[in-house]
Amino acid sequence: MSLDLTDIQGLIHHVYGYPITRHLLFSISNPPAGMRLLKFLAPLTTHAAVPLDPKPESLLNVGITYSGLQALEVNPQFLKGFPLEFRSEPDPLTMGDFGSSDPVNWWNGKFTTRQVHLVVHLYGQSPEALDEVTAAVRAAADGNRELLPTKAGEAIEAGRLGDIPGELHFGYRDGISQPTVRWDDAPLQPTEVNYRHFILGYSTNEIQSAPMAFASDPDSRRAAELGRNGTYSVFRWLYQDVALFNRFLISEGPNAFPDLSPTDAEELLAAKLMGRWRDGTPLVMSPNAPNQDLNTRNDFGYANDTKGRQCPFSAHIRVSNPRDQELDVISQMGGVPRVIRRGAPYGPKLTGTVDDQVERGLVGMFLCASILRQFYKLTGWMKANNFSPAFPNQHSQDPLANRLTPDASSEFLIPTATGNRTVTLRDFVTTKGTAFFLLPGVRTLQKLADGQYQ
Ligand code: HEM
Repeated sequence: MSLDLTDIQGLIHHVYGYPITRHLLFSISNPPAGMRLLKFLAPLTTHAAVPLDPKPESLLNVGITYSGLQALEVNPQFLKGFPLEFRSEPDPLTMGDFGSSDPVNWWNGKFTTRQVHLVVHLYGQSPEALDEVTAAVRAAADGNRELLPTKAGEAIEAGRLGDIPGELHFGYRDGISQPTVRWDDAPLQPTEVNYRHFILGYSTNEIQSAPMAFASDPDSRRAAELGRNGTYSVFRWLYQDVALFNRFLISEGPNAFPDLSPTDAEELLAAKLMGRWRDGTPLVMSPNAPNQDLNTRNDFGYANDTKGRQCPFSAHIRVSNPRDQELDVISQMGGVPRVIRRGAPYGPKLTGTVDDQVERGLVGMFLCASILRQFYKLTGWMKANNFSPAFPNQHSQDPLANRLTPDASSEFLIPTATGNRTVTLRDFVTTKGTAFFLLPGVRTLQKLADGQYQ
C-alpha cells in the first residue's frame, strides 16, 4: 500500500528549509467561527505532494488540539477514541517541566494551554511573503481570538540563525539525524522506520495508533477516519540560556580538560554534552576534533564505545537516540522511540556571557503516532538516563533536561582514557510552552470545516 500524499500535511513528509516561520495560535470562539477559519485554511494547506521545486513563496500547515476539537463541537463519541495523553494536558512530570518550566509559567502567563485550540504554521521565503499570508490568515480568523505569547505580545517567529546550516543557539548544528521513513508497505531496509510510527489510521497489532477502528463500533470507525493520515505534533517552545551556557563552558571546560587550551577545552566540553562537535561531527567517529568530511554523518552506533570514552553516556544524542546501545528489559518493549523533528531557533543570536533578557531558544515540533510511546518515552529518558544497564549512573540526565527533576543527578560523567571527569550541569533550557496538536489529514480538515464530525 502507498499513502495518499495529497492527504498528508507536507510538514510531516518534508524538511521545508524555509528561512522564516511564524506560528499563529488561536482560541476558537464558537464552532461557526472555527469552521469559517478552517474553510479558509483547508484548501491552502500544504500537502506532501505539493511540488517544492521551485519553492512556493509561502507554505501553510494546520494543527488542532484536543480542546480545539471540543471547541469545534466534534461528537464526543468520536473524541473518546483519541488516546488519553492527547486528551489530557501535557504532563509536566513526564516531561520534566519543573520550577520555571512549570506549566503555570508557560506562554509567558498570557493564556493557558487549554485555550490553545489551533495553530497555523506559516513558512515564508521572505518577510514580505510571510507577512502577506499572515495577514490573510488573521483576516480569516476574525471572530476567533489570536493568542500572542511572546513578551512583546507577538506570535512566535523562528528562522535561520546564522550562516551555518541548521545552526541553533548554543552553536550546534541541527537537522542531521531524522528517521528514514518507509512511506509504503514494501519490506523495510535495516535503517528504515515504518510510516505507522508517524501516520495515524493504519494501526496493526505490531504498531498501534489511536483512534483505532473496531468493526463492531461505528463511532470508532468515524474517529479513525477523523485521525487517518494525521500525525500528533508535540509543539515545544523552549528558552535557551545562552549566557549561562557560555559561562558554563568557560568555567568548566578548562577544569575538565586542563591539558587543552581554554578554547579547545570549551569546545570539547560542548561536544561531550551533545555527542557531536558543534559543527555536527559525531564524537564516536572523530573523538578528538571536528572533521568537515564527517559533519553530516549519521551512520554510526555506540557498540564500540562501551565505556563512553568517545561519547559520554548522557550526551544528548546518545540519550535521545541510543541506536545500538543495550536497553533494559522494560525499555526494550517498543525499542528506541523515533520522532520526526521539525523546528527552528527563535530570537537573536547572543555571544558572550552576559544575558540581555531577550527571548531566544528553539521551537521544536516532535511528530509521532503515539505521544506516550514516542515523545514521552524520550523525555522520560532525558530526565533520568535509566533505560540502559550499560549506563553507570541511572540518575544522570541529558544536559538539556531540567535539573529540578526529583531523584535526578546534575553530575555529568565524562569518561576518558586517563580517568573520569565530572561536570555539574545547570538549567540551560526552560520550557515556555507545550501543546499537543493533531496535524489532521487534509480531507479531515475540510470535513471539520463542513461540520461533518459534529
Ligand atoms: C533546546 C533544546 C534542544 C536542543 C538545543 C537540541 C539540540 C539538538 C542537536 C544539536 C541535535 C543533533 C543534530 C542532529 O542529530 O540532527 C539533536 C538531536 C536530537 N534531539 Fe535535540 N535538542 C533539544 C531538545 C530536544 C528534545 C526536547 C527532544 C525530545 C524529546 C530532542 C530529541 C532529539 C533527537 C531524537 C535527536 C536525534 C538524535 C540522533 O538521532 O542521533 N531534542 N538535538
